[in-house]
Amino acid sequence: MDYKRHIAKGLKIDGVSEEEIYSAMALPPNSEMGDYALPCFKFAKILRKSPVAIAEELKNSYVCDEIISEVSAVNGYLNFKVNKIALTNAVLSDVLNSGDKYGSSTVGKGKTICIDYSSVNVAKPFHIGHLSTTVIGGALYKIFRFLGYNVVGINHLGDYGTQFGKLICAYKRWGDRDEVQKGGIHAINDLYVRFNTEATAEMESEAREYFRLIESGDKEACELFEWFKSLTLEYVKEIYAKLNITFDSYAGERFYTDKMQPIIDELRAKNLLKESEGAQIVDLEEYGMPPCLILRSDGASLYATRDLAAAVYRKNTYDFYKCLYVVAYQQNLHFKQFFKVLELMGKPWAKDLVHVAYGMVSLEDGAMSTRKGKVVWLEDVIARCEEKAYAIIDEKNHALENKKQIAQTVGLGAVIFGALYNNKIKDITFSYDKVLSFEGETSVYVQYTCARANSVLLKSGEDKHFAKNYEPNAQEFEVIKAIAAFPDVVSEAAEKYEPSVIARAAVDLAQKYNKFYIDCKILTAEGDSKPFRLALTRAALQTLKNALALLGIGVPEKM
Ligand code: ARG
Repeated sequence: MDYKRHIAKGLKIDGVSEEEIYSAMALPPNSEMGDYALPCFKFAKILRKSPVAIAEELKNSYVCDEIISEVSAVNGYLNFKVNKIALTNAVLSDVLNSGDKYGSSTVGKGKTICIDYSSVNVAKPFHIGHLSTTVIGGALYKIFRFLGYNVVGINHLGDYGTQFGKLICAYKRWGDRDEVQKGGIHAINDLYVRFNTEATAEMESEAREYFRLIESGDKEACELFEWFKSLTLEYVKEIYAKLNITFDSYAGERFYTDKMQPIIDELRAKNLLKESEGAQIVDLEEYGMPPCLILRSDGASLYATRDLAAAVYRKNTYDFYKCLYVVAYQQNLHFKQFFKVLELMGKPWAKDLVHVAYGMVSLEDGAMSTRKGKVVWLEDVIARCEEKAYAIIDEKNHALENKKQIAQTVGLGAVIFGALYNNKIKDITFSYDKVLSFEGETSVYVQYTCARANSVLLKSGEDKHFAKNYEPNAQEFEVIKAIAAFPDVVSEAAEKYEPSVIARAAVDLAQKYNKFYIDCKILTAEGDSKPFRLALTRAALQTLKNALALLGIGVPEKM
């Protein structure tokens, strides 16, 4: 049940929508003041009244009910107190009835969201820099689905460009079919790196010729290219499977080869194309941006040209409500430019394109070297996290069964959570010790809390009943409120395109549950307390599982 929604529906403010009230509501800094608060400062301008007066008026008109038992106006805040017993009854039955659907909704019904994420480059390393786009995009995919949207995951493969000519040239000179087949993406990457260090002018021109051959559909060149592409896909798909990530389309840049001309024609017809030093550009000076390059002087298309074609294609194919691009902030300008070009072309849906930017991930010092040299491949980061998780688990609980499998779930979770936990625009330093800490704000901590809750439930013999009309104590009620907030948390994560909101809420709930666990007996509790606490434990566990599942993280039964 969404209590914020419940309150927002009960408030009427002239000129302010229910949605705006809903998103303005907050949790008060301490629960003495109330359980929810509406800061009225935001409405002072629209209503031309002081926040204090607004809060006072709203207080007088708000009608309390079974769940919201008290409203007060304090210093421009409208504070709501909930009826603990009614809320507790409602939350517990909601979670226990909804199970893995708890927190979901149908707000997105009938709307399609395209998410362009991960979008790796063929024959290039899948490295730590792709971690964020992959896990943030993957989480957004699951979150929007959970909210009832139709979601299309798109891997806009980087499979276009002169580098493939270079690769063919290098392969022809130094490559061996069996070795490349066996070595996969690593072998191709080695060839590419070797080309870049050893290529002569002659080889460069050979490479250009091979690129031209791919472009013109030459059989041998295309076959080689397709082979390199399939080796890349084989490799990345294995990582996607591990990370619980799926795509509905792998239409990459090359897919748009024959879809760019209509865009160029349209730009020309709308008088947006300009010649500049032989190249074709869209001038964006008026908007404070450098020009968007559409065609090079040799007639070749650019990254932006293919993105324009891709956006139009996606609109026509999926009729999206929003199209998200989960791409590092280094590409801010690129997205601003091509969004603007679409706007200038008169596409009303240009406003529905969203660049979901995120910061850089680097590894802490000393962790840079891998068996593949300078680049840190994602598979190595994952493998290392799994190994370290194994060592930690083995030390903590040597007799545990299925240690290997558990270490995988824990290690992968740490990689994902480590990349997701911070506000996405921040640059982060990935530290193995930090993401694998049992005590920090980590997935390991959350998973460990789940294992703890699970073990209580196992020992109890799984009683499905809970005590109704039980008055929770302070620790219990903190857990109830954190569980009750979960549906809001999911919507907020979607609204802000920010999975970290869910990661943080999971840590918060785990902390509250642990406080309750330490302060209150469960299995030896007396009277109604025992069935109530077991139900609370089950509800907390379910909510934590749902939260982690949305991030692509599993929960071991034992740890
Ligand atoms: N392949 C690009 C890169 O690695 C990312 C592509 C993002 N998507 C897009 N539609 N531009 O930088």
